[in-house]
Amino acid sequence: MKMTDKIFIILNWTVLFFSCISLIILYYSNIINPYLTILNVLIAIFSLAKIYINYKCIFKFERINEQVERAALGNLNTRILVRDDGILSKLVCNFNKVIEELQKTQENQITVEESRRKLMSNISHDIRTPLTSIIGYIDALRDDVAANEEERLEYFDIISKKSKDLKKLIDEIFYMAKLDSDEIEMNFQIYDIGEIIRESIIAFLPELNKKEIELRVNLPKKKTLVYVDKLSIIRILNNIFKNSIQYGSEGKILGIDLISTQKSYQINIWDRGQGIDEEHLPYIFDRLYIQDKTRNKSLGSSGLGLAIVKKLIEKHRGTIWVESRPYKKTVFSFTIPKL
Ligand SMILES: Nc1ncnc2c1ncn2[C@@H]1O[C@H](COP(=O)(O)OP(=O)(O)OP(=O)(O)O)[C@@H](O)[C@H]1O
Ligand SMILES: [Mg+2]
Repeated sequence: MKMTDKIFIILNWTVLFFSCISLIILYYSNIINPYLTILNVLIAIFSLAKIYINYKCIFKFERINEQVERAALGNLNTRILVRDDGILSKLVCNFNKVIEELQKTQENQITVEESRRKLMSNISHDIRTPLTSIIGYIDALRDDVAANEEERLEYFDIISKKSKDLKKLIDEIFYMAKLDSDEIEMNFQIYDIGEIIRESIIAFLPELNKKEIELRVNLPKKKTLVYVDKLSIIRILNNIFKNSIQYGSEGKILGIDLISTQKSYQINIWDRGQGIDEEHLPYIFDRLYIQDKTRNKSLGSSGLGLAIVKKLIEKHRGTIWVESRPYKKTVFSFTIPKL
């Protein structure tokens, strides 16, 4: 309690005391003065009311102060409760909002820290595994373990392949880090997205033919203009095409639809392969996430492809999602705002 509050309360008690004394004096001295009596009674009631209000206010503020102190000490589950219709309730309401925001930021920080730790451990694992194997094959070559020249060449091939995979992984990690820190230069210009899709798919025709995968393209005849960084769009398309061919080839079909919606163009890339199990769907755009059932098929995969795709689409103010019914239809859809 502050000194001024104490003085104020003592003053009120004094006034109350004197008004009571004067009432007693009036009563015993037989002075009949109704005005004086009423005045004294009023002063006494007024002082009592003031004392009551003062104490109530002080206790209320002390309670608030205790709760604020608790929040300041780090207990962000604290919420201040007051029964007040005035400015105090607004203040308390805003203060509760600040605590809530702080709590959200704290929770967010914990999640970010947790995923950073997981990412670091995944990266270390993904780099260590091929590196250990490369070292193993080099040692084998040095110790002349290979039975013949053919086996020696095979070792060299494995070393070359694993080194390339490692370089690809490191390149993608760097690209992702640059994307995160906005260091990738984007050259936004007006393009026909249908045209970019046509250009991109051409590069995959030999592989589609080789794997006997039917291509079903559905693009509108009209121009489909967007304002994009062409290299990013090509990178997005290539990543999704590659995945569909790599993981969905059993379905023997690759579909591409370009749909015009009110504000954006929606691109659906689909296959009828083994798809993605429901439990994996929420994590498929996470960094370094590889579905267990595709793990052995994804030699040379880094699990960063879709995380990069998502980030690039977000940089174009678009969204990406996936729906999958194994062996029926697995569709990766993304939007790019119209010009
Ligand atoms: N069309 C698809 N059908 C089935 N599974 C898919 C499909 N596309 C992606 N996936 C699953 O999603 C995982 C993540 O894909 P992503 O492209 O991010 O990584 P990746 O292909 O493993 O590696 P890379 O970085 O080389 O692309 C894949 O490992 C695979 O399990
Ligand atoms: Mg991929």
